[in-house]
Amino acid sequence: MLIRVFSDVHGNLAALKAVLDDSSGVKAEKTICLGDTVGYGANPVECADIVRDVCDEVIAGNHDLGAAALISISHFNHDGQKAIEWTRKQFGQSYIDWINTLPLQLKCCGIRLSHASVVNPSSWIYIRNSATAIDAILAAGECLSIYGHTHIPMQWNRMGSCSDKPAGLFSDFSLLNCGSVGQPRDGDPRAAYLLVNTEERTFRHVRVKYDVEAAASSIIKAGLPGNLAGRLYLGK
Ligand SMILES: [Fe+2]
Repeated sequence: MLIRVFSDVHGNLAALKAVLDDSSGVKAEKTICLGDTVGYGANPVECADIVRDVCDEVIAGNHDLGAAALISISHFNHDGQKAIEWTRKQFGQSYIDWINTLPLQLKCCGIRLSHASVVNPSSWIYIRNSATAIDAILAAGECLSIYGHTHIPMQWNRMGSCSDKPAGLFSDFSLLNCGSVGQPRDGDPRAAYLLVNTEERTFRHVRVKYDVEAAASSIIKAGLPGNLAGRLYLGK
Protein backbone atom coordinates (compact mmCIF):
# COMPACT_ATOMS: atom_id res chain seq x y z
CA MET A 1 0.00 0.00 0.00
CA LEU A 2 1.23 3.47 -0.87
CA ILE A 3 0.65 5.98 1.94
CA ARG A 4 1.01 9.75 1.71
CA VAL A 5 1.98 11.33 5.04
CA PHE A 6 2.28 15.01 5.84
CA SER A 7 2.35 17.20 8.93
CA ASP A 8 2.58 20.76 10.22
CA VAL A 9 0.53 22.48 7.53
CA HIS A 10 0.22 25.43 9.92
CA GLY A 11 -2.50 27.25 8.02
CA ASN A 12 -0.40 27.57 4.85
CA LEU A 13 -2.97 27.04 2.11
CA ALA A 14 -0.61 27.63 -0.83
CA ALA A 15 1.80 24.99 0.47
CA LEU A 16 -0.96 22.47 1.22
CA LYS A 17 -2.46 22.85 -2.26
CA ALA A 18 1.00 22.41 -3.84
CA VAL A 19 1.60 19.19 -1.88
CA LEU A 20 -1.78 17.75 -2.83
CA ASP A 21 -1.31 18.71 -6.49
CA ASP A 22 2.19 17.28 -6.61
CA SER A 23 1.16 13.98 -5.04
CA SER A 24 -2.15 13.54 -6.88
CA GLY A 25 -0.48 11.45 -9.59
CA VAL A 26 1.00 8.86 -7.21
CA LYS A 27 -2.46 7.45 -6.34
CA ALA A 28 -1.80 6.94 -2.64
CA GLU A 29 -4.32 4.58 -1.06
CA LYS A 30 -4.18 6.41 2.26
CA THR A 31 -3.42 9.97 3.28
CA ILE A 32 -2.44 10.74 6.85
CA CYS A 33 -1.92 14.12 8.55
CA LEU A 34 0.22 14.16 11.68
CA GLY A 35 -1.17 17.36 13.15
CA ASP A 36 -0.56 21.08 13.53
CA THR A 37 -2.92 21.79 10.66
CA VAL A 38 -3.31 25.32 12.06
CA GLY A 39 -1.21 27.96 13.83
CA TYR A 40 1.32 30.43 12.33
CA GLY A 41 -0.37 30.71 8.90
CA ALA A 42 -3.28 32.84 7.73
CA ASN A 43 -5.62 30.16 6.34
CA PRO A 44 -6.44 27.81 9.24
CA VAL A 45 -10.10 27.29 8.33
CA GLU A 46 -9.40 26.47 4.68
CA CYS A 47 -6.57 24.10 5.64
CA ALA A 48 -8.71 22.35 8.27
CA ASP A 49 -11.50 21.90 5.71
CA ILE A 50 -9.10 20.33 3.18
CA VAL A 51 -7.43 18.08 5.75
CA ARG A 52 -10.82 16.86 7.02
CA ASP A 53 -11.86 16.15 3.46
CA VAL A 54 -8.70 14.56 2.06
CA CYS A 55 -7.17 12.61 4.95
CA ASP A 56 -8.09 9.10 6.05
CA GLU A 57 -6.47 9.67 9.44
CA VAL A 58 -5.68 12.93 11.26
CA ILE A 59 -3.72 13.35 14.49
CA ALA A 60 -3.93 16.36 16.82
CA GLY A 61 -0.88 18.59 17.20
CA ASN A 62 -0.18 21.03 20.01
CA HIS A 63 -1.18 24.03 17.85
CA ASP A 64 -4.51 22.37 16.93
CA LEU A 65 -5.31 21.75 20.59
CA GLY A 66 -4.15 25.25 21.53
CA ALA A 67 -6.39 26.80 18.86
CA ALA A 68 -9.34 24.84 20.24
CA ALA A 69 -8.42 26.02 23.78
CA LEU A 70 -7.99 22.38 24.83
CA ILE A 71 -4.46 22.94 26.16
CA SER A 72 -2.63 25.94 27.59
CA ILE A 73 -0.52 27.94 25.14
CA SER A 74 1.76 29.37 27.82
CA HIS A 75 4.69 27.23 26.56
CA PHE A 76 4.36 28.58 22.98
CA ASN A 77 6.72 31.34 21.88
CA HIS A 78 5.45 34.90 21.42
CA ASP A 79 4.66 34.56 17.69
CA GLY A 80 3.04 31.18 18.25
CA GLN A 81 0.78 32.58 20.97
CA LYS A 82 -0.25 35.53 18.81
CA ALA A 83 -1.07 33.21 15.90
CA ILE A 84 -3.06 30.83 18.11
CA GLU A 85 -5.09 33.67 19.61
CA TRP A 86 -5.83 34.90 16.09
CA THR A 87 -6.70 31.38 14.89
CA ARG A 88 -9.17 30.91 17.76
CA LYS A 89 -11.11 33.89 16.46
CA GLN A 90 -11.41 32.28 13.01
CA PHE A 91 -12.67 28.95 14.35
CA GLY A 92 -16.35 28.10 14.79
CA GLN A 93 -17.53 25.45 17.25
CA SER A 94 -17.51 22.73 14.56
CA TYR A 95 -13.70 23.04 14.23
CA ILE A 96 -13.24 22.84 17.99
CA ASP A 97 -15.50 19.77 18.11
CA TRP A 98 -13.50 18.16 15.28
CA ILE A 99 -10.13 18.83 16.94
CA ASN A 100 -11.51 17.38 20.16
CA THR A 101 -12.08 14.04 18.37
CA LEU A 102 -8.51 13.72 17.05
CA PRO A 103 -6.14 11.20 18.66
CA LEU A 104 -2.59 12.05 19.79
CA GLN A 105 -1.24 8.88 18.22
CA LEU A 106 -2.52 5.87 16.33
CA LYS A 107 -1.43 2.74 14.51
CA CYS A 108 -2.34 2.37 10.86
CA CYS A 109 -1.11 -0.23 8.33
CA GLY A 110 1.44 -1.44 10.87
CA ILE A 111 2.92 2.04 11.34
CA ARG A 112 2.89 4.00 14.61
CA LEU A 113 1.96 7.64 13.93
CA SER A 114 2.17 10.64 16.25
CA HIS A 115 2.75 14.39 16.14
CA ALA A 116 5.53 14.59 18.77
CA SER A 117 7.36 11.68 20.41
CA VAL A 118 5.13 8.68 20.98
CA VAL A 119 6.58 8.63 24.52
CA ASN A 120 3.80 10.40 26.43
CA PRO A 121 2.47 12.29 23.36
CA SER A 122 0.76 15.01 25.41
CA SER A 123 4.21 16.13 26.68
CA TRP A 124 5.04 17.27 23.12
CA ILE A 125 8.62 16.01 23.32
CA TYR A 126 10.77 17.08 20.35
CA ILE A 127 12.88 14.27 18.88
CA ARG A 128 16.13 16.13 18.25
CA ASN A 129 18.80 13.82 19.64
CA SER A 130 19.73 10.16 19.94
CA ALA A 131 18.27 9.73 23.42
CA THR A 132 14.79 10.99 22.51
CA ALA A 133 14.89 9.05 19.24
CA ILE A 134 15.79 5.76 20.95
CA ASP A 135 13.08 6.32 23.60
CA ALA A 136 10.51 6.80 20.84
CA ILE A 137 11.70 3.73 18.93
CA LEU A 138 11.47 1.57 22.06
CA ALA A 139 8.00 2.91 22.89
CA ALA A 140 6.78 2.06 19.37
CA GLY A 141 7.94 -1.57 19.68
CA GLU A 142 8.59 -3.35 16.39
CA CYS A 143 6.65 -0.86 14.31
CA LEU A 144 8.02 1.72 11.96
CA SER A 145 7.09 5.13 13.43
CA ILE A 146 6.46 8.42 11.70
CA TYR A 147 6.24 11.77 13.49
CA GLY A 148 6.31 15.54 12.82
CA HIS A 149 6.63 18.49 15.25
CA THR A 150 10.26 19.48 14.53
CA HIS A 151 9.52 20.43 10.90
CA ILE A 152 12.72 18.70 9.69
CA PRO A 153 12.55 15.64 7.42
CA MET A 154 14.93 12.95 8.65
CA GLN A 155 15.15 9.43 9.99
CA TRP A 156 16.69 7.58 12.93
CA ASN A 157 17.90 4.00 13.34
CA ARG A 158 17.78 1.84 16.48
CA MET A 159 21.31 2.90 17.46
CA GLY A 160 20.17 6.53 17.58
CA SER A 161 21.98 7.61 14.40
CA CYS A 162 20.18 10.09 12.18
CA SER A 163 20.16 10.57 8.44
CA ASP A 164 18.71 13.04 5.96
CA LYS A 165 18.69 10.57 3.06
CA PRO A 166 15.78 11.48 0.75
CA ALA A 167 14.76 7.86 0.22
CA GLY A 168 15.49 4.38 1.54
CA LEU A 169 14.32 1.15 3.10
CA PHE A 170 12.37 0.79 6.36
CA SER A 171 14.84 -1.85 7.48
CA ASP A 172 17.60 0.76 7.70
CA PHE A 173 15.56 3.08 9.94
CA SER A 174 12.87 2.79 12.58
CA LEU A 175 11.70 6.35 12.99
CA LEU A 176 10.92 8.86 10.23
CA ASN A 177 10.05 12.56 10.36
CA CYS A 178 7.93 13.63 7.38
CA GLY A 179 8.93 17.33 7.64
CA SER A 180 6.49 20.24 7.42
CA VAL A 181 4.14 21.32 4.66
CA GLY A 182 3.65 24.89 5.79
CA GLN A 183 6.72 25.95 7.76
CA PRO A 184 9.86 23.95 6.85
CA ARG A 185 12.80 24.56 9.20
CA ASP A 186 15.68 22.77 7.50
CA GLY A 187 16.78 25.72 5.37
CA ASP A 188 14.80 24.54 2.34
CA PRO A 189 11.65 26.65 1.92
CA ARG A 190 9.87 24.04 -0.23
CA ALA A 191 6.91 22.19 1.29
CA ALA A 192 7.65 18.64 2.46
CA TYR A 193 5.73 15.37 2.48
CA LEU A 194 6.53 11.67 2.69
CA LEU A 195 5.53 8.64 0.63
CA VAL A 196 5.69 5.21 2.23
CA ASN A 197 5.26 1.91 0.37
CA THR A 198 4.35 -0.81 2.89
CA GLU A 199 4.84 -3.67 0.39
CA GLU A 200 8.26 -2.59 -0.88
CA ARG A 201 9.04 -1.31 2.64
CA THR A 202 10.46 1.91 1.23
CA PHE A 203 10.08 5.62 1.96
CA ARG A 204 10.65 8.74 -0.09
CA HIS A 205 10.76 12.36 1.08
CA VAL A 206 9.36 14.80 -1.49
CA ARG A 207 9.85 18.59 -1.67
CA VAL A 208 7.55 20.89 -3.60
CA LYS A 209 7.95 24.53 -4.62
CA TYR A 210 4.94 26.64 -3.75
CA ASP A 211 3.91 30.30 -3.83
CA VAL A 212 5.75 31.50 -0.71
CA GLU A 213 4.91 35.11 -1.59
CA ALA A 214 1.16 34.35 -1.43
CA ALA A 215 1.47 32.64 1.96
CA ALA A 216 3.68 35.41 3.36
CA SER A 217 1.47 38.24 2.17
CA SER A 218 -1.64 36.54 3.64
CA ILE A 219 0.16 36.47 7.01
CA ILE A 220 0.97 40.19 6.79
CA LYS A 221 -2.57 41.05 5.61
CA ALA A 222 -4.05 39.14 8.55
CA GLY A 223 -1.98 41.24 10.97
CA LEU A 224 0.01 38.24 12.22
CA PRO A 225 3.66 38.71 13.34
CA GLY A 226 5.88 39.62 10.35
CA ASN A 227 8.50 37.08 11.39
CA LEU A 228 6.03 34.30 10.55
CA ALA A 229 5.99 35.57 6.96
CA GLY A 230 9.74 36.21 6.68
CA ARG A 231 10.81 32.77 7.88
CA LEU A 232 8.85 31.07 5.06
CA TYR A 233 11.32 32.48 2.50
CA LEU A 234 14.22 31.01 4.45
CA GLY A 235 12.71 27.68 5.42
CA LYS A 236 13.74 28.40 9.02
FE1 LIG B 1 4.36 22.39 14.17
